[in-house]
Amino acid sequence: MFFRIALLLTLTVCLLIVYRMRGTLRAKQRIMVSALATLLFGGGLFALEWFDGPDPAPGPPQADGCHALSVPLPSQTCVECHKTRHANWHHSYHRTMTREATPENVKADFNDAVYEFMGVSSRMYRRGDRYFVETADPEWLARMDRQGVPPDRRGPIPRRVFSVDRLVGSHWFQQILHRDEEGRYLRIPLIYHLVEKRWIHVSGAFLAPELPKFLWDVVIWNESCLFCHNTGPNKNPESLFGGGRGYNTEVSELGISCEACHGPGERHIQAQKNPDQGGRLLDPNGADPTIANPARLTVKRCDDVCARCHGAAVAQRHEGWDPDICADPFRPGQEIRKTRFLVWSEAEFRTEGPRRPNEIDGRFWGDGTPLTTALEYQGMALSKCYQGGEGKMSCLSCHDMHGSDPNHQLKEGMRTNEACYGCHDTYRKKLVEHTHHAADSTGSLCQNCHMPHQVYSLLTTHRSHRIAVPRVRDSIDTGKPHACNLCHLDKSLGWTGDQLQKWYGTKPEPLSDDDRTIASSLLHLTRSDARSRAVVAGAFSWPPAQQASGRDWPGLLLTRILEEERYPAVRYLAHRALKSLPGGAGDYNYLAQPSRRAAQIRELQMSLRDAPRPDRKRYPALPLTAEGLYSEDVLDRLLRGRKDPDLGVHE
Ligand code: HEC
Ligand code: HEC
Ligand code: HEC
Ligand code: HEC
Ligand code: HEC
Ligand code: HEC
Ligand code: HEC
Ligand code: HEC
Repeated sequence: MFFRIALLLTLTVCLLIVYRMRGTLRAKQRIMVSALATLLFGGGLFALEWFDGPDPAPGPPQADGCHALSVPLPSQTCVECHKTRHANWHHSYHRTMTREATPENVKADFNDAVYEFMGVSSRMYRRGDRYFVETADPEWLARMDRQGVPPDRRGPIPRRVFSVDRLVGSHWFQQILHRDEEGRYLRIPLIYHLVEKRWIHVSGAFLAPELPKFLWDVVIWNESCLFCHNTGPNKNPESLFGGGRGYNTEVSELGISCEACHGPGERHIQAQKNPDQGGRLLDPNGADPTIANPARLTVKRCDDVCARCHGAAVAQRHEGWDPDICADPFRPGQEIRKTRFLVWSEAEFRTEGPRRPNEIDGRFWGDGTPLTTALEYQGMALSKCYQGGEGKMSCLSCHDMHGSDPNHQLKEGMRTNEACYGCHDTYRKKLVEHTHHAADSTGSLCQNCHMPHQVYSLLTTHRSHRIAVPRVRDSIDTGKPHACNLCHLDKSLGWTGDQLQKWYGTKPEPLSDDDRTIASSLLHLTRSDARSRAVVAGAFSWPPAQQASGRDWPGLLLTRILEEERYPAVRYLAHRALKSLPGGAGDYNYLAQPSRRAAQIRELQMSLRDAPRPDRKRYPALPLTAEGLYSEDVLDRLLRGRKDPDLGVHE
C-alpha cells in the first residue's frame, strides 16, 4: 500500500514538472522528454502492479470485492438461520481446538495435581475460575543449563507460578498457554495427555530424543501455532522498546469456525436479511454467491480450503502478506498457492520452510509419502485416485464437516469398503479374489492395505492419506513399513514379496538376507531410525495385527526393545502394546529416570518369563531359541547396526 501511494505521488510530480518545462524546450527535446515521460509513466504503472502482487484468484463472486474489508463475524452470528449446521459444528474438534482457559473448557486435571519430571515437581491448581501451574523458574533453569551446573549440584529449585490463559487441543492433548505482558502466549512444558488422563512433560509428547533435563523450550503460540488453529488470525507483531518482539495478536474467533471454511459472511447476512434481496440471491442452482460453500467450489479450490491447515502450508509467500500485521490473506475460494508454499519433501522444507538447514525434519518417508498429520492434502494429492480421477476425489469424498460423528468427521460408511466402491465398484464382486483374505477378514478391508497406519503424530499412529499399491520396493531403505507387515508383524518383507508374486504375479525385489528372513517389524524396532520404530511399535497394539500375527511373542521382544530405546514416544507406544498383551500389565513409567525404568522392565520381564513361550516352528521369521526366547546374538547384532540419528517429527 505504502509503495502504491509513494509511486503515485512521484509519478504525478514528474508529470507536473514535464508539463511546466514544455515551453522552454525545443521541438526535438520536447519529443524526447515526452517519450521519457511516457516510458516513466508506463514503467510506473507496471511497478504498481508488481508491488501489489499478482491478482488474487477470484473467490466466490462478491460485487464490491469485500473480501478483505468485511468485518469478521463470530459463529454466533450464523446460528439464527443455520441452527443444525451450527449445532453439528459445535461438537466438532475444530471448534474446540483453541479456547480460553475457563472451567467449561478445561479438561486437564487442575485438582491440585502434582507431577514429577527430572527432579522438578509441578503443581496444577485452580483458584475460583482461574487456573495455575507452579513449577521451576524457567530463567533459573536456563541459567543453570548455560553455566553447566549438574542437576545434583543446583540446590533448591526456585519456583514460579504461571497463570494458564489459553488451551490448545481437546481430543488427544490439552496444551496450556501462559500469556505474558508482551502479549506472547508461551507454551508451558507440561501437557495433559487426554488419552491416558495424565500430565506429561513435553519431551514425552513428541517424537524427539530424550533430554536429560527439565527443558523449558520457548514455544510462542503467536508465531508457531496461530494460523492453523484459529479463524481470522492476525499475528500483529510489535517491536518492543529496547529490542525483542511482543504481540497484539487478534483472531476473529479462537478455534476453527465458520469463516475459516466459508469466508467472510458479512455480505451474505446483509443480503439474506434484506427483504428486497433475500431469496433472490440464490442462483438457479440454489447457490448464494455471497458466501463460499466448499461443496460448490471446484475440487481444487475446495481442497485448498482444507490444505491451508492440512497441507503443512506453513511457509508464507512474500506477496499477499502484509509484513507489518501478518493477517492471513487467504479466503476460501482462492488458490492457496498464491499466499503459501505447499511443501512436498524434506528438502523443500529445508529451503522453503522456516526450519534450520540439514535438520531431519521427519515429515516424509524416503519414498515421498507423508509421515505425519497435517499433511493429509499431500497424501491425497499424491494418490492415483486423485490424479487419475482429477475433479472427482476431494476431502469431501470421505469427510463431512457437518456430520454427526466428531471423531474423524467421516461420512457414513467411510470406514468400510464403501469408501472405495464409489469409484471402484468392480471390486465389490471380486473382493476375495483381489484381497486373498476371507470377505469378513480385516485383511479384506481396502484401507488396511491401501491406507495403512504409516503416519505418526500425537503419540499415536494414523492412516496414510496416500492411497497406494503396497509395493515392496517402496519399503526398501525408505524407512516406510510395508502395509502387509504392519498387520503380519511376525513376517518378513521377503515373505510379503513371495505372496505378492504368488497372488498378483508381482516380480520380487532383490532383498538383503535379513529382509528376506527376519520379521520386518523386528528389523525396524532394532535397526531403523525412530520414525519407523514409532510407527511399528504403534502397530503392536492394533487388534487386527495381534489377530493376524499372534499375541504370545511380542511381550519379551518389546521389553528388550524398551531397554534400548532413547526416544520416549517410542517407549510409550511399546508399553501401550505391552499393556494390551498377556502378562504385560505391570507398571512402567516411560518418562521415569533410567534406573527406575530399568527396574520396572526387569519386573515386566520376570512376569513374562512365566507366560507360555512362543513356538519357533510357528514363527520362522523370529530369531527364537528352542526354549522360545530371543537369540541375544541376533538381537545384539541388529541393535549394534541401528541407525539412530537425532531427529524430530515436526507435527
Ligand atoms: C500446518 C498447520 C499447523 C501448525 C503450524 C500447527 N498445527 Fe497443531 N494441528 C494441525 C492439524 C491439521 C492437527 C490435526 C491432526 C489430527 O487430527 O490428526 C493438529 C493437531 C494439534 C493438536 C492435537 C489437538 C487435539 O485436540 O488433541 C495439538 C495439541 C496441536 N496441534 C498443537 C499445536 C501447537 C502447540 C502448535 C504450535 C507450536 C501447532 N499445533 C502448530 C495443524 C497445525
Ligand atoms: C472445517 C470447515 C468448516 C467449518 C468450520 C464450517 N463449515 Fe459449513 N460447510 C463446510 C463444508 C465442507 C460444507 C459442504 C459440504 C458438507 O456439508 O460437508 C459446508 C456446508 C455448509 C452449509 C450448507 C450448504 C448446503 O449445501 O446446504 C452451511 C449453511 C454451512 N456450512 C454453515 C456453516 C456454519 C454456520 C458454520 C459455523 C457455525 C460452519 N458452516 C462451519 C465446512 C465447514
Ligand atoms: C439471516 C439469515 C442468515 C444468516 C444470519 C446467515 N445465513 Fe447463511 N444462508 C441463509 C439462507 C436463507 C441460505 C440459503 C438456504 C440454505 O442453504 O440454508 C444460506 C446459505 C448459506 C450457505 C450455502 C451457500 C451456497 O451457495 O450453497 C452457507 C455456506 C452459509 N449460508 C453460511 C453462513 C455463515 C457462515 C453465516 C454466519 C457468518 C451465515 N450463513 C449466516 C441465511 C442466513
Ligand atoms: C473419487 C474416485 C475414487 C475413490 C473414492 C477411490 N479411488 Fe482409487 N482410483 C481412482 C482412479 C480414477 C484411479 C485410477 C487412476 C489411474 O488409472 O491412473 C484409482 C486408482 C487406485 C489404485 C491404484 C493406485 C496406483 O498407484 O496404481 C488403488 C490401489 C486404489 N485406487 C485404491 C483405492 C482405495 C483403497 C479406495 C478407498 C479407500 C479408493 N481407491 C477410492 C478413483 C478413486
Ligand atoms: C478416501 C477417503 C478419504 C479422503 C479422500 C480423505 N480422507 Fe481423511 N480420513 C479418511 C479416513 C478413513 C480417516 C480415519 C482413519 C481412521 O479410522 O483412523 C481419515 C482421517 C482424517 C484425519 C484425522 C487423522 C487422525 O487420525 O487423527 C484428518 C485430519 C483427515 N482425515 C483430513 C483429511 C483431509 C484434509 C483430506 C483432503 C485433503 C482428507 N482427509 C481426505 C479417509 C479419507
Ligand atoms: C484453520 C485450519 C483448518 C481448516 C481450514 C480445516 N481444518 Fe481440519 N483440523 C484442523 C485442526 C487444528 C484439527 C485438529 C482438531 C483436534 O483434533 O482437536 C483438525 C481436525 C480435522 C479432522 C479430524 C477430527 C478429529 O479430531 O478426529 C478432520 C477429519 C479434518 N480436520 C478435516 C478437515 C477438512 C476436510 C477441512 C476442509 C473442509 C478442514 N479440516 C479444514 C485445522 C483446520
Ligand atoms: C490384502 C491387501 C489388499 C486389500 C485388502 C485390497 N487390496 Fe487392492 N491391491 C493390493 C495389492 C498388493 C495390489 C497390487 C497388485 C499388483 O501388483 O498388481 C492392489 C492393487 C489394487 C488396485 C490397482 C489395480 C490393480 O489391480 O493392480 C486397485 C484399484 C485396488 N487394489 C483397489 C482395491 C480396493 C477397492 C480394495 C477394497 C475393496 C482393495 N484394493 C483391497 C492389496 C490389497
Ligand atoms: C489388517 C490386517 C491384515 C493385512 C493388512 C493383511 N493381512 Fe493377511 N491376514 C490377516 C488375518 C487376520 C489373517 C488370518 C486369516 C484371515 O482372517 O483371513 C491373514 C492371513 C494371511 C495369509 C494366510 C495365513 C498365513 O499367515 O500364511 C497370508 C498368506 C496373508 N494373510 C498375506 C497377506 C499379504 C501378502 C498382505 C498384504 C498384501 C496381507 N496379508 C495383509 C490380516 C491382514
